[in-house]
Amino acid sequence: MPYADLRVFLTKLEACGKLRRIPKPVDKDWEIAAVSKIAFERIPEPRRPALFFERVQGFDIPVVTGVLGASRSIYCLALECDPDEVQEKWGEAELHPIPPRLISDGPVHEIVSLQEKADVTFLPVPTWTVEKDPAPYITSGYIITADPESRRRNVGTYRLQLKGPRKLGLFINYLQGGRHHVEKNNKLKQPTPVAVVIGADPVIGLVSVSRLPQDMDELAVAGGLRGQAVDVVRCVTVDLEVPATAEIVVEGVIKPNEFESEGPFGEYTGYMGPKAMSYILDVQCITHRNRPIFQAFHSQMPPSESSCIRSIGREATLYKHLAEDLGLPVCGVHLLESGGAAAYLVISLKKTHPVQPRTVMCGAWSFAPQFGKITVVVDDDIDIRDVNAVNWALSFRVQPERDVVIMPGMAAVSLDPSQAPVDVPQEDLSRRVSSKIGIDATRKHAFPDVAVPPKEHLELVRKNWQSYGFPEGIL
Ligand SMILES: Cc1cc2nc3c(=O)[nH]c(=O)nc-3n(C[C@H](O)[C@H](O)[C@H](O)COP(=O)(O)O)c2cc1C
Repeated sequence: MPYADLRVFLTKLEACGKLRRIPKPVDKDWEIAAVSKIAFERIPEPRRPALFFERVQGFDIPVVTGVLGASRSIYCLALECDPDEVQEKWGEAELHPIPPRLISDGPVHEIVSLQEKADVTFLPVPTWTVEKDPAPYITSGYIITADPESRRRNVGTYRLQLKGPRKLGLFINYLQGGRHHVEKNNKLKQPTPVAVVIGADPVIGLVSVSRLPQDMDELAVAGGLRGQAVDVVRCVTVDLEVPATAEIVVEGVIKPNEFESEGPFGEYTGYMGPKAMSYILDVQCITHRNRPIFQAFHSQMPPSESSCIRSIGREATLYKHLAEDLGLPVCGVHLLESGGAAAYLVISLKKTHPVQPRTVMCGAWSFAPQFGKITVVVDDDIDIRDVNAVNWALSFRVQPERDVVIMPGMAAVSLDPSQAPVDVPQEDLSRRVSSKIGIDATRKHAFPDVAVPPKEHLELVRKNWQSYGFPEGIL
């Protein structure tokens, strides 16, 4: 049964023990970021809950973070599937998209504020990297634009800097669907209509942060994921459609060929992303539900919601490419959260031929050129989600002069500060070139037996763990 909206999904999370309500009043200008950070740091990934800040000082709108990706299990609840079905679920939705259904009205239009009344400062937009970000940022906007010629829609999540009551700075990097729309309009010297959706059925967030083929309507893929069309309503002031049950929608236009300094912003790499000349969004209308909920993505230093969400979708598509399209005996793919789900890639392989580890590296790098600056290939006995196990393979299955490949002149991980100084502009081509290292950490010959207690002894101890005096929940 698909989720009707964000509220229904929050109820589901709460019922599953995956939502932590925080009744203590919090300051949006430092505390939401700090509490989210400590929660991500302290609570191990499998148990991390989404956070519901019920009382935000000075605002009557609550804030939620971690709702799509505090953990893999939350992501799977959003997709309504098991972890091993994620790839299939995405594949099916892309093969069988369900176009949105236009309806005449919906809760998102319960309150409509036009022109000077459309003041974004009534929203509890958090400040994330205090004293370094120049302003509060909307991090979880699902930004809807349309191609000026084909009218094909794009939905993408791009950061928005609060610049004034009716002015937002919008950073869209050069690869994104939304950027093509703005550039086309800029050439035609016409404004780009934009709708920013904040808070909706979780699959809309998932399609918004996922790279889908350019000719696909993300809302139709969202329909495919939920098995039912997304109901949409027409915007009030722009020729676009938005989910009828969204919490909040900000409507506006990007003026043609006008740019303003935006950023720096604390990025998914854990470093400040550079200041850039970005688009300006002039707000002309805000619509919202009664008693709306403001959703934010927690980003900055990994682990974060941003790296968790990115890793799951990316791993699924990369696995499909290697295992199904190329037919390689790949068992699993892990884009580590510490590498922002981009820089550090571990792949496990049931090796049947000595060339396969390098074939796998090349397959991964050509399919996802920006990922895997560090790519490690291990045998299938290594748990790729266990950093100790991966480091063990690196330590004792690798001879550096034989097993390491360095590939110069490859695509860079976006915003990787190691590959160009921060004052080199974002648009400079040198920022887009990087080398890669591939490490074949598989066994190349017969190895001695591993030195661990027999499996049955370990199983017995696991079963009787508490009898050794360890408190419940430690294992
Ligand atoms: C929390 C979060 C913040 C993001 N911020 C930006 C951003 O500011 N600019 C950008 O170009 N991409 C950003 N992205 C990445 C895009 O959302 C992602 O690449 C998506 O596929 C873009 O959609 P599109 O392919 O339809 O353009 C962000 C992703 C996440 C998860």
